[in-house]
Amino acid sequence: MSVVIRALGASIPPQRITNEDLAARVDTTDDWIRSHTGIGARHFAPDGILTSDMAAEAAKTAMAKAKIGPHDLDLIVVATATPDYFGFPATACIVQDKIGAYGCAAYDIVAGCTGFIYALHAASSMLETSHGRHALVIGAEALSRIVDWNDRGTCVLFGDGAAAAVISRIDEAGRGCLSFLLGADGGGARDLYLVQAERDRTFERAQPVVPVISMNGRKVYDFAVKSITVMIERLMHKTVYRLEDFAWIVPHQANARIVQAAAKRFNIPQDKIYLNIEEYANTSAASIPLALAEMDQKGLLKPGDLVMLVGFGAGLTYGAAVVRW
Ligand code: ACO
Repeated sequence: MSVVIRALGASIPPQRITNEDLAARVDTTDDWIRSHTGIGARHFAPDGILTSDMAAEAAKTAMAKAKIGPHDLDLIVVATATPDYFGFPATACIVQDKIGAYGCAAYDIVAGCTGFIYALHAASSMLETSHGRHALVIGAEALSRIVDWNDRGTCVLFGDGAAAAVISRIDEAGRGCLSFLLGADGGGARDLYLVQAERDRTFERAQPVVPVISMNGRKVYDFAVKSITVMIERLMHKTVYRLEDFAWIVPHQANARIVQAAAKRFNIPQDKIYLNIEEYANTSAASIPLALAEMDQKGLLKPGDLVMLVGFGAGLTYGAAVVRW
């Protein structure tokens, strides 16, 4: 028995904001953003479009490709840091309603940019243990809604979008999700967090506060390079695979420099690492499935390919998955 990624779908908002567009509003330049991050553009959800709208669109595309209907689903897991409603209800429940998948289980996972890997692990484990057949695993974000436009160090980094994977349990062995590594370091929680997202609306101070991203860029940078390096080392130790066995490494698209630093450490050729950060910027939990959906669309993922997913993010969390296509 295996749990395979059967089909992928993406939803990218049409509003494309280049670095030059940003520089008209924020004290920054195309040159600084490109040289420090590799980002050239990002897409923002227009007014009225919520995380669940992008997630539902991506889900419908993935289900159509997988040739399954909403009633075939046993589970929907949405990884997001920007749910429609902070707290409850889960965005997964709203997606369930929007795609008409009544009755299946639905919940969200909060693991920052590692969210898709955490969600893939949770959903594939549930299919294995409960003998479900199909699940939707979705990474979806509307980060433009929580960006601090007064902080040029963070507002240039993020974009919106969603991507969904239909995963299915099959009888064949040795394919699909082969191995996972997940971890967290809560000591770094304040290195990347939503300011005022705590319960600071009190009897004395009744005004709600709009939460915005706060990040210690240097600390997150160091954590990201270290966690990618450690995860690759641990995966090589834990599994039978060697780095040269992997057709692709698909990292969380946070900063091209972070990925390049890790690639240099292991002598990984750049053409084995899939990067699309230049077009979409950092879409947090959506970034890894968006990359996979784009690779799938381009025909880059061949049956039998061994693919490593590797992510890190708020929490601080980190995670990796080995998937046989
Ligand atoms: N435009 C122009 N100048 C800028 C900008 C900007 N957008 N942002 C910062 N600067 C300036 C700073 O003010 C500073 O100027 P100074 O030297 O005159 O004081 C200078 O650039 C250097 O700033 P640093 O913050 O030290 O720049 P650094 O080289 O560390 O790059 C960056 C910043 C890109 C944010 C980097 O630290 C980074 O990538 N960190 C990790 C970010 C990350 O991966 N976050 C997400 C991970 S988790 C998740 O995805 C939710």
